[in-house]
Amino acid sequence: MNVDPVYSNPNARGQVALTFDDGPNGAYTDEILRTLERNGVDATFFVLGQNAAGNHDTLRRMRDEGHEIANHSWSHPQLTSLSDAGIASELNRTSDEIQAATGQRPSFFRPPYGDRNARVDAVAGANGLRDIIWDVDTRDWARPGSEAIRSSAVNDAQDGSIILMHDGGGNRAQTAAALQQIIDGLRARGLEPVTVPQLLAERE
Ligand code: NI
Repeated sequence: MNVDPVYSNPNARGQVALTFDDGPNGAYTDEILRTLERNGVDATFFVLGQNAAGNHDTLRRMRDEGHEIANHSWSHPQLTSLSDAGIASELNRTSDEIQAATGQRPSFFRPPYGDRNARVDAVAGANGLRDIIWDVDTRDWARPGSEAIRSSAVNDAQDGSIILMHDGGGNRAQTAAALQQIIDGLRARGLEPVTVPQLLAERE
């Protein structure tokens, strides 16, 4: 298994991937799912195991609506500070939770904070997970306002970009509010949002 991290896929002409980290997170996740569904857009959700637990209905809704569910660790640690066994535990416990909810084991993970090294990627790869980073950071976690989030997502994206946003980890009203204009703006530039595996289908 190739364990090199993925930051984007320039071969995916006319496509980008919208990604949401740290959920599921109640009303913010629900609003994001509604907007995606209304627009016929499939996205990728990097969920925390500790948030997936108790929110299996939301994970099944993501699955049923065509989204990709991926692994963002159980408790959002810096994986590079953990032992190999500690990394494997964080990832496998989360994959187990996702599988319990959806019947499907995830194929992709994103390290919290993007904090990775070759050892993290190797442990993940040995457990069936490919490391997905990003090339467009909207910095939505800092709550810069919906317009700043929209501008970053739309204007910084290129063919094959992976766009980082958050549905969890705090108040994500700005992210949820920006999403419709992000989808409209990307489409106006000829960039259609797809899931991470769809984006990677044009590679390798
Ligand atoms: Ni995170």
